[in-house]
Formats: sequence, C-alpha cells, structure tokens
Amino acid sequence: MIPAAAPLPLPEAPARDVEVLLSAEEIARRVRELGQEITAAHPGGELVLLSVLKGSFIFAADLARAIPLPLRIDFLGLSSYGGKTETTGVVQITSDLTRPIEGAHVVIVEDIIDTGLTMAYLLDNLATRRPASVKICALLEKPGRSRLPIAIDHRGFVIPDRFVVGYGLDFDERYRNLPFVGVLDPGAAGRVG
Ligand code: IMP
Repeated sequence: MIPAAAPLPLPEAPARDVEVLLSAEEIARRVRELGQEITAAHPGGELVLLSVLKGSFIFAADLARAIPLPLRIDFLGLSSYGGKTETTGVVQITSDLTRPIEGAHVVIVEDIIDTGLTMAYLLDNLATRRPASVKICALLEKPGRSRLPIAIDHRGFVIPDRFVVGYGLDFDERYRNLPFVGVLDPGAAGRVG
C-alpha cells in the first residue's frame, strides 16, 4: 500500500520576495475561458499549440487541457533576456519545432508580451514556414511598454509595468514553480545571481 503523502511546503519563499498579483484560482478561471475562446474560434483543420519556452510551459500545459479538440503541441525555445529584467532586444532560437507547421492553424502560447520584440521576431520567423493561420494567445500583457504593436488574439490579463515571476515566468531561472503570478521585489532581483 502506498502511504499517504505529507503536504508539500510552498515552493520558494513567496512572502519575502514576491507579492501576489494573480492568484492560482484567478489564473485557472481565466485559462479555462481562454480555452473556450480558442475552441470557439478554431476554423477546423490541424491545430498546433506552439508553446514558447521556457516561460509558457505551465500555461501551455493548462491551456491544452482546456481545449477539447484534437491538437498537436510543439515547443520553440526563445531567449531574449539572459539573466536580466530588461530585454536585450536580441532574440535567439535555443530549440526549434519538432515538425513542420505548413498548412496548420497555429496558436502561439506565450507567457507575457512586454516590448513585443520577441513576438515580432517569432511572427516573422513562422511566416516563412507557411502555416494556414497564426494566432497569439498571451497570458499577460504589459501594454505601456510596447515598442512594436502586436495584435493579441487571446489575452489573459493586462498587468502594470512591473517585473513578474511565477506560473512559468522566471528571474534568472528561479520562481517558475510558484503557482501564482507575483511582482518580484526589486531588491530580491538585485540579490539573485
Ligand atoms: P518582449 O520581447 O519584451 O515582449 O519580452 C518577451 C519575453 O520576455 C517573454 O516571453 C518573457 O520570457 C520575458 N519577460 C518579459 N517581461 C517579463 C517579466 O515581467 N517577467 C519575466 N519575464 C518577462
């Protein structure tokens, strides 16, 4: 017989470094709604959820389970920060899709759109692969910061211009496992790394 598991402690120390902005419950509710939106908007044909790594891996896992349609999930590794809280503007593909997306209806699953530079790069890159359509589903948007206008088709939350972590988002590879999205104390950002 398997013994009952002891309750797990909360990952990290949220009270000290991170102030809750969006609770796990709020996120779960919105992700279900986004799943319904995407399902209703899907034109038919092959649907590919394209999760942008690493930040969207938790969001994509939850979103996929909120879309009751046959679909494929693929991952594209992009990096634009390199351990800082400001984008460098230089985007690198760190790992590519495993299959072609030609003729497919692609929904890009992104954690956050900040300046829009990463998404603009990604849209250009995907266009060369000739998908049938490309839509953007972003959990978070920081609108005041946009440097390139990006049309977000499915948007989770609009948030203030603060550096956030949790639910997949990191600072220097930490905090991704927090179940909520929170604002990182700027002092903590300075102490990490
Ligand atoms: P953009 O190119 O400035 O739009 O930045 C997009 C990428 O930067 C996102 O996919 C995130 O990985 C990262 N990013 C932007 N803002 C934040 C934040 O507040 N916390 C954590 N990562 C962020």
